[in-house]
Amino acid sequence: MAIIPIRTMPDPILRQKARRVKSIDKSIDKLIDEMIETMHSASGVGLAAPQVGVPLRVIVIGIPEEEELALINPQIVRRMGERLVNEGCLSIPGYFAQVHRAEQVRAKGLDRTGKEIRLRADDLLAQALEHEIDHLNGVLYVDYLESMDELQPVEPTSTEPLV
Ligand code: NI
Repeated sequence: MAIIPIRTMPDPILRQKARRVKSIDKSIDKLIDEMIETMHSASGVGLAAPQVGVPLRVIVIGIPEEEELALINPQIVRRMGERLVNEGCLSIPGYFAQVHRAEQVRAKGLDRTGKEIRLRADDLLAQALEHEIDHLNGVLYVDYLESMDELQPVEPTSTEPLV
């Protein structure tokens, strides 16, 4: 396993639409392991494959105190409610901003064994699912801001989630 350097804005891979995974082989298993390790080493709670230079539809989420979640070809099935949250991104280091996210989402995808997983999420998990699936579509949270002036610098003591 290895920690992979995280791509940062304006790397063009962050703006590509990632490809669906057609077969879950050993390379996908290894990618997921490396993404989990990379996410933890960067103190993130989520990571999408394009952020480590791989344009495939794979995401990992690591909410503190919970087991990591890896989803292949994930999709948001339904969004419910709306709330304003602080959000940062490992690919836009040093900043965070307030963005609108759903209160609850329903999502589905495949786990690393190819089994379909359906989940209902709220709080940080819902936010991370929306953020990581956005990455697979080349969307960054800054796209939701009216102006880059809304970005705020991250303080050493800040606790904004990095996804
Ligand atoms: Ni991100």
